[in-house]
Amino acid sequence: MKKVCIVGYGAIGPVHARALENVERAKLYAICDIDAAKRALCKEKYDVLEYDDFDTMLQDKDITTVHICTPHYLHFEMIKKALAADKDVVVEKPVTMTKEEFEALQELEGVERVCVVLQNRLNPCIQKFKEIVVSGELGAVKASKGILTWHRDEKYYASGTWRGKWDTEGGGVLINQAVHTLDLFCYLIGEVKSVKANMCNYSLEGVIEVEDTFTAYLEFANGVKGVFFATNAYAKNSAPFFEVIFEKGTVRYMDKKLWINEELIEEDIAPDTGKSYWGNSHMTLLKNYYDMNKYFSVADAKVTMETLFSMYESAL
Ligand SMILES: NC(=O)c1ccc[n+]([C@@H]2O[C@H](COP(=O)([O-])OP(=O)(O)OC[C@H]3O[C@@H](n4cnc5c(N)ncnc54)[C@H](O)[C@@H]3O)[C@@H](O)[C@H]2O)c1
Repeated sequence: MKKVCIVGYGAIGPVHARALENVERAKLYAICDIDAAKRALCKEKYDVLEYDDFDTMLQDKDITTVHICTPHYLHFEMIKKALAADKDVVVEKPVTMTKEEFEALQELEGVERVCVVLQNRLNPCIQKFKEIVVSGELGAVKASKGILTWHRDEKYYASGTWRGKWDTEGGGVLINQAVHTLDLFCYLIGEVKSVKANMCNYSLEGVIEVEDTFTAYLEFANGVKGVFFATNAYAKNSAPFFEVIFEKGTVRYMDKKLWINEELIEEDIAPDTGKSYWGNSHMTLLKNYYDMNKYFSVADAKVTMETLFSMYESAL
């Protein structure tokens, strides 16, 4: 039985805790957060050890696995220290905040022990989408587009001092909210050869340093062209939209349903944890990881992370 410590019990930490309730081969054993109120929230619900300091927690030999659910700027250092302390690691997206960190991470001893939380790949519709691409049943991919229109206001950005800043969040809508939409391009279409991108701050000038809106034109190694639009300036959180045009038909992921042309072929109705617009598959991801030893590694996240950093370089 793996003994898990969740590090960071803010918005996503509790989602990991609930997902772990359904995992057979792991149990929540400890919570680590610098905020006593957050630790108390966890302890109200679970019988766990409590740590207020990451380095002290790492000395606990009983802890086998550390779930990094902290702000982006902490991910790399925490992964590095956890691996050095002989722990397995589950890390929330984005794996690292910067390109340099991602390059260094790939060289770390034990990097294969890192499981990356890209839970939306496991949504039933996306699994089906992947099957369609891989099977070639609709012929070659010709074009692709991804759209994310969400709402993040002043109150959201005030909910954490790390949010909305280059040094601590590493960007805005792209690195935080739309990283999953970008990941669909990389997971379903493949390696990106070149990008042209733009970003701006339409709705939160003076509130955040980073972009609230990001657009990109992507050219893939296989010749496919893609367009990408993501914004936090919309009035609500709409379900992500992702479309691929094949030689013999069009597949659309829309309102959490998958369509081939006009025919409905799959729906994301899996009961799971978290807010529905985050995607529904943290529980599936953790069950796959602990109970079946199936997970997305740092290598599996490479194309997405490299593309993300290229997009920022192009847009800056
Ligand atoms: N996969 C998803 O769909 C999804 C959804 C939401 C958030 N996330 C990711 O999860 C991570 C956390 O996001 P959040 O929205 O939960 O942030 P948050 O600010 O709500 O929570 C972060 C928590 O980390 C704690 N913390 C900060 N520094 C710490 C330290 N040194 N040691 C221990 N704890 C520390 C804070 O006290 C806070 O409780 C981010 O990487 C974010 O992008 C992923």
